[in-house]
Amino acid sequence: MIHARNFARLVPGAGVAAVSDPVVDARVAASKELGGVSEYADYRALLDDVKVDAVLIAAPTALHCEIAVAAAERGKHVFCEKPMAMNPAECDTMIAAAEKTGIVFQIGFMRRFDESFRAAYEQVQAGEIGEVVLVKSCTHGPTYPKPWMFDLAQSNGPLAEVCSHDIDTVRWFTGSEFAEVYAIAGNYRTPEARASYPDFYDQVLLSARFANGSQGCITGAQGVQYAYDSRVEIIGTHGLISIGGLNAGTTVVCTREKELRRPAVVSWTGLYRDAYLAEDVEFINAIREERSARVTGRDGRAAVAVVNAGNRSIIERTPISLECASSTPLS
Ligand SMILES: NC(=O)c1ccc[n+]([C@@H]2O[C@H](COP(=O)([O-])OP(=O)(O)OC[C@H]3O[C@@H](n4cnc5c(N)ncnc54)[C@H](O)[C@@H]3O)[C@@H](O)[C@H]2O)c1
Repeated sequence: MIHARNFARLVPGAGVAAVSDPVVDARVAASKELGGVSEYADYRALLDDVKVDAVLIAAPTALHCEIAVAAAERGKHVFCEKPMAMNPAECDTMIAAAEKTGIVFQIGFMRRFDESFRAAYEQVQAGEIGEVVLVKSCTHGPTYPKPWMFDLAQSNGPLAEVCSHDIDTVRWFTGSEFAEVYAIAGNYRTPEARASYPDFYDQVLLSARFANGSQGCITGAQGVQYAYDSRVEIIGTHGLISIGGLNAGTTVVCTREKELRRPAVVSWTGLYRDAYLAEDVEFINAIREERSARVTGRDGRAAVAVVNAGNRSIIERTPISLECASSTPLS
């Protein structure tokens, strides 16, 4: 609905023609909010609607591949939310389908459109901190996982659900491909899920070595309650850049107990509001200008490969090598 509201109201030249959700209340509420647009229980009916030129896929991850391929086969441009899919083979199928019909295919790594991330990237490119040595990226979400997220066969767990963004960020800032990962994880906050989902973890730490020799460190969590905690540090040969913090805004209340109180960031929805809009504008611009999107299936696939390797590392308790793709510069 974040994307739908953007396309309906804020993205120049775009509009929402239809929505699809098998849950009747969800699609009726969406249609109503969007001005009475067509609503379909089955996404295939939406794809057959001639009013639809492009689709935004925000269904659970296990459905991304089949919906994206069906859309591409009908010549509809595709914006697919992260994680792109469940495994690299699905990603390859999606990329091949998109290339066959020449549609624009964009993945929802909105942090690449965030003003602070872009400013940091420009400073790195300008050589302000020298060569990138280590990129640390953390995303700790405050909320309880949704039911389908507990099942790793449906979601690939927090490495996919939460850390896809961190994986993409670290890859973007190192300008290289993941060569090896080692991950540890545990379920610390949701003991009630242990019996039904023994593999589920709500805290994960992944360390990485890149093809160009630089290092990555990612932490991800769900249900932390304290804040939406998204921070990045880029350590170079002669400097450091940090992005993000725990504070929301700059208001500070100093009490007679001599305590300083500042509100914490509560949600990704506000923190990345402008970035979601910017990536939505980019999608429409790429379609209009008949060019590739700035964040592609190749970027989505790279993150999915790391998710799979990380989950394997957690289970096998060993570092996992990734096949190194060419390390062409990532823009
Ligand atoms: N980029 C981001 O920051 C970001 C943020 C949140 C979610 N996401 C991604 O969006 C996706 C959805 O996550 P969510 O948290 O909104 O999940 P959710 O469970 O809240 O919503 C998923 C919706 O998809 C619907 N759905 C299920 N099957 C469908 C089908 N066959 N066709 C159409 N709709 C169907 C469900 O009924 C539900 O309304 C995930 O891949 C998630 O990782 C990305």
